[in-house]
Amino acid sequence: MLSAINGSKLAQEQAPALDVARRRQDFPILQREVHGHPLVYLDNAATSQKPWSVIEAERHYYAYYNANIHRGVHHLSQEATDAYEGARDKVREFIHAPRREEIIFTRGTTESINLVASSYGQGLQAGDEILITEMEHHSNIVPWQLLCQRSRTVLRVAPIDDAGQLITEQFASLLGPRTRVVALTHMSNALGSINPVKALVAMAHRVGAVVLIDGAQAIAHLPVDVTDIDCDFYAFSGHKVYGPTGTGVLYARSALLEAMPPYQGGGDMIKEVRFAGSSWNDLPYKFEAGTPNIAGGIGLGAAIDYVRSLGLNAIGTHEADLLRYATEQAHDFPGLTLVGTARDKGAILSFTLAGIHPHDVGTILDTRGIAVRTGHHCAMPVMERYGVPATVRASFALYNMRHEVDALFRGLVKAQEMFA
Ligand code: ALA
Repeated sequence: MLSAINGSKLAQEQAPALDVARRRQDFPILQREVHGHPLVYLDNAATSQKPWSVIEAERHYYAYYNANIHRGVHHLSQEATDAYEGARDKVREFIHAPRREEIIFTRGTTESINLVASSYGQGLQAGDEILITEMEHHSNIVPWQLLCQRSRTVLRVAPIDDAGQLITEQFASLLGPRTRVVALTHMSNALGSINPVKALVAMAHRVGAVVLIDGAQAIAHLPVDVTDIDCDFYAFSGHKVYGPTGTGVLYARSALLEAMPPYQGGGDMIKEVRFAGSSWNDLPYKFEAGTPNIAGGIGLGAAIDYVRSLGLNAIGTHEADLLRYATEQAHDFPGLTLVGTARDKGAILSFTLAGIHPHDVGTILDTRGIAVRTGHHCAMPVMERYGVPATVRASFALYNMRHEVDALFRGLVKAQEMFA
């Protein structure tokens, strides 16, 4: 029933299996206890844990070559610039972007989307349409709503079915001559649903719309190839893919970036400044005002090295196994209702337990050292679609193991006993 990640191209390529027990040693936090129990970290969709290599990359920068970038003639500044710009090259390769100037560093997915809504959005006219989907995270809804308020453009929403899958026919019927932007998630943070982005991009391009993909979740679980997807913008955060918080990426076609006005003004984004007017730096710097998160960017580069050394195919195969294992237990669990049962689904298990509020479930799990997220997951329209105020969400990463899934379900039994 569950094709999950293994239904995608991940499983089609041979990848060496992940030695998960060994990889767990790479993550110092996994050695700790919470409330006297070994930590079972199942909140990876909120943020992933960091391997030593990422922690060390940041520490090394601060300890040995801390300096501002792009500015100094001195040695430390050059070393820092090389490391930061090296991280940009790693990102470019990781997502198969054609050119390094198409990689803009941001604070995260949210800022990447706001950048596009704010800057590309200035070219939209009243009555133009922006199409999103019902499964979007708030960060791919609210920036467009703000744009609509400013520019009297119109927000359209393509619905999902009961399984949490985009209804493609409805998506197609909402595309038209006024559609200027399509913004949709690659993988839903609340449901796990994976969208067939390549096909959807082709449909949107046929009506002349540009497409932004929110890759915040997908980036840690699926191989992403922006050239193959043929999207115009792809946004993701470093912290979801084992990198530092406060780091993010916007990939955008250079022709679009050339035409777009700057997002923020300040140092580094200018070529010349006169009181009569200023001119803009070359890409990507035109969109990177101010001193960036240098240590974070270097840490993101280390995270990408780490993920590539294991291979997203191997990671995806392992996570698909965990999801299958967890889903089988969920089906047999009395009173448990899965929220999100898409055919193509990433390593996210969202559910409700009859008679127990998700926050209570999360609190009881926490007493056993098990970390899950409960609530609306910054996707209130998804909760509304299912008629629930909240869900419990267990989300898996490369270091999770089957015994942790067992611990989760033992915790749910305990919750039921307490509320019986
Ligand atoms: N977007 C993050 C989540 O889904 C914070 O939990």
